[in-house]
Amino acid sequence: MWSSPLAKTGNPSLSASTNGPLFSASLISPAVKDALPPSYIMRPLERTDYAAGFLDVLKVLTTVGDISQEKWTERYDWMAKRGDEYFVLVVCDGEGEVVGTGSVIVERKFIHNLGLVGHIEDIVVNKDQQGKKLGLRIIEALDYIAERIGCYKTILDCSETNEGFYVKCGYKRVGLEMAHYY
Ligand code: ACO
Repeated sequence: MWSSPLAKTGNPSLSASTNGPLFSASLISPAVKDALPPSYIMRPLERTDYAAGFLDVLKVLTTVGDISQEKWTERYDWMAKRGDEYFVLVVCDGEGEVVGTGSVIVERKFIHNLGLVGHIEDIVVNKDQQGKKLGLRIIEALDYIAERIGCYKTILDCSETNEGFYVKCGYKRVGLEMAHYY
């Protein structure tokens, strides 16, 4: 039966400090980095990304709200302390501006022999950067992280209009999403 390597052994190399990147840069796939357009980089989220346009990119996806730097730092530090649970990565253009982002959140279960499941969230590429395969690279990178961490699957919710994109990234429709908003 499948069992999670992380659940069994832990993995100290994945721990993050609140002063450094959100997670270890060694978890960013070298093959994905190589496949980015020239001068673009992919890296873990950093505290300083508040000033690098991270929240503006998220606004392409949905409502973000008016988030002060203090509140941003508070949330960033909360995530960083979780160490190997929140993996938010960014793609930056040659000027260092954030132009894309995506996250995988690792859920630890009792079932499937203490299995781990990756939840892909908040995938977005700036409008003027879409169509350059950045979205595909973000998903490939998040899949790589989830597999390295020991997830047995990665799941996500999306609209019908984005189904084709995720199919191109290797995902398939399974089940049905339900929601209860509060
Ligand atoms: N429907 C069908 N195919 C698509 C779509 C789509 N909506 N979007 C891209 N594709 C295809 C591309 O044509 C390309 O195909 P090809 O390999 O045959 O050329 C392939 O998917 C890869 O496309 P990318 O260039 O990597 O896509 P892009 O960088 O433009 O990013 C994304 C796609 C993230 C959906 C972008 O359009 C975006 O940011 N949209 C707004 C925010 C959004 O809706 N995000 C998804 C939310 S769901 C979630 O977060 C779990």
